[in-house]
Amino acid sequence: MALIIGNWKMNGLKAGLAEAKKVAEGAKPGDQLVICPPATLIMAMSEALAGSNVLLGGQDCHAKESGAHTGRVSAEMIADAGATYCIVGHSECRDELRDDDDVLAGKVEAILRAGLVPVFCVGESLETREAAKAESFVKGQLELVHGIADRVIVAYEPIWAIGTGKVPSTDDIAAMHQSMRDYLGEKTPLLYGGSVKPSNAAEILSVPHVGGALVGGASLKAEDFLGIARAA
Ligand code: G3P
Repeated sequence: MALIIGNWKMNGLKAGLAEAKKVAEGAKPGDQLVICPPATLIMAMSEALAGSNVLLGGQDCHAKESGAHTGRVSAEMIADAGATYCIVGHSECRDELRDDDDVLAGKVEAILRAGLVPVFCVGESLETREAAKAESFVKGQLELVHGIADRVIVAYEPIWAIGTGKVPSTDDIAAMHQSMRDYLGEKTPLLYGGSVKPSNAAEILSVPHVGGALVGGASLKAEDFLGIARAA
């Protein structure tokens, strides 16, 4: 069964919890579903999902356990709220927070320290893809988790496919996932992310080595998110 992770990004007010409850009610036994809400909703989301088989995740964390870091959230806080997973290295964080490999190494370490599973995001820009350097670029990003390949989930999210409605060809997804599999070995679950929706999920999830999806926009509505789960 595929692992489907919903990344709500900076979306969702209290009223949005109703969608999470619908996901919890609509999830079938054996579904592997995760919702990563904004930090403001994480405790309430934890309660909304309680008793269901839908798990909770954070979207990012600080490398430190606690301290004078205004506005930030630690991996321990995310774990304390009831989460199981934490996204790290999302291209939006690499861009907006200027997260480089050193920062990301600290965050991955923190996530493991807190007992959470890191969902480590990688992916190339359109420029890199057009220069036929996507696989080597992603391999470079993966160096950071090569030594912990059995403790991490990797999500391949080509930056140009995020929120754009554009999706790589299944051949391109297959080639990238094969390359990641060759580099990381058999133990790392590999996800695809970037404009996944109910109508294209079955095709994407049938690509060899694609073990699930990291979903942005289509995770905000229970109907769409469950539609992707049903396609899995
Ligand atoms: O982390 C999920 C993401 O970046 C993909 O977003 O909206 O293209 O599904 P979206």
